Amino acid sequence: MAIILGLESSCDETAAAIVRSDRTILSHALAGQEDHHRAFGGVVPEIAARAHAELMTPLVETALADAGLTLNDIDAIAATAGPGLIGGVMVGLVTAKALAMASGKPLIAVNHLEGHALSPRLIDADLEFPYLLLLVSGGHCQLLRVNGVGDYNRLATTIDDAVGEAFDKTAKILGLGFPGGPAVERAAAIGNAHNVPLPRPLKGADEPHFSFAGLKSAVLRAHESGQYKVEDIAASFQLAVIDCLYDRISYTLDRIDAPAALVVAGGVAANVPIREMLEKLAAQRGMRFVAPPLWLCTDNGVMIAWAGAERFGMGLTDGLDFVARPRWPLDPHAAPARGAGVKA
Ligand code: KG4
Ligand code: ZN
Repeated sequence: MAIILGLESSCDETAAAIVRSDRTILSHALAGQEDHHRAFGGVVPEIAARAHAELMTPLVETALADAGLTLNDIDAIAATAGPGLIGGVMVGLVTAKALAMASGKPLIAVNHLEGHALSPRLIDADLEFPYLLLLVSGGHCQLLRVNGVGDYNRLATTIDDAVGEAFDKTAKILGLGFPGGPAVERAAAIGNAHNVPLPRPLKGADEPHFSFAGLKSAVLRAHESGQYKVEDIAASFQLAVIDCLYDRISYTLDRIDAPAALVVAGGVAANVPIREMLEKLAAQRGMRFVAPPLWLCTDNGVMIAWAGAERFGMGLTDGLDFVARPRWPLDPHAAPARGAGVKA
């Protein structure tokens, strides 16, 4: 049985966790940086990188102490090596390289998106490949067929904003604070989702992709009109997102040989009404629905350690010369989606 240390630092969470290949989480240390970025209404890359540099080593020490282990007990050291804010990614990757060099243990360079993509298999031992994955985070909105570790087909992507980005921008427009996703969800819970007419970008379109930029602009116009309550705009926005996701996933499901399970991962997967819609959609299609617990949806070290464990089990380790990657698509062969500012 392998014991893997995993480090995460690609955005605004610094985290270190230790996971065993039998799916036991031995420790889980995490420090958010909300207080560093709140005044700016978003993550400031340079501030994030400095905070990661200050927090990472103490978090590794905490993770080892909580697990009652020393570096000698660890079989491999995994770290997010991209995609993400490059300064932060470099902090985690350099720390992992130093630990690997000092201990003589192998390094595993993990794609942050693969961390999200494989995390449902940590909590559900019955989740077999292939599965259909909706990956929704601050930087991505993709529908993927997960064939195996390191083997993905991207079936759809956003042609403009990611879903998490739309939540964050909506929160900013509505003055709901930072981080935006949970704030919009809370406001939406007490609003009327049918009060504010908002568009459903690409709904019914004869292509598989997603689009959220128009929705954000409509939120801005609705707010500036002064006609609507903030809670009603939040609820109407969230319902529009849910409608779009349902329509776009259905488009693809109508055209593929659907795998046995529909899986959701990434920070936006923490949104309860979105999870409920996906659960209903899966039931309609005779698919099993798998979603990680809320704490495993947003960025954390456990998912990186687990992806490391999956890769280590396949004999996949990396050299200490592995270079951090600001962009790193899961499916490098996917055809570019139309539109400017396309996310890989
Ligand atoms: O995966 P993640 O933690 O970081 C990235 O890799 O991007 O995702 C962060 C994103 C943010 O945009 C955040 O607003 C969104 O996930 N998010 C949510 C919720 N919790 C986090 N969006 C909607 N509802 C939530 N409850
Ligand atoms: Zn993430």
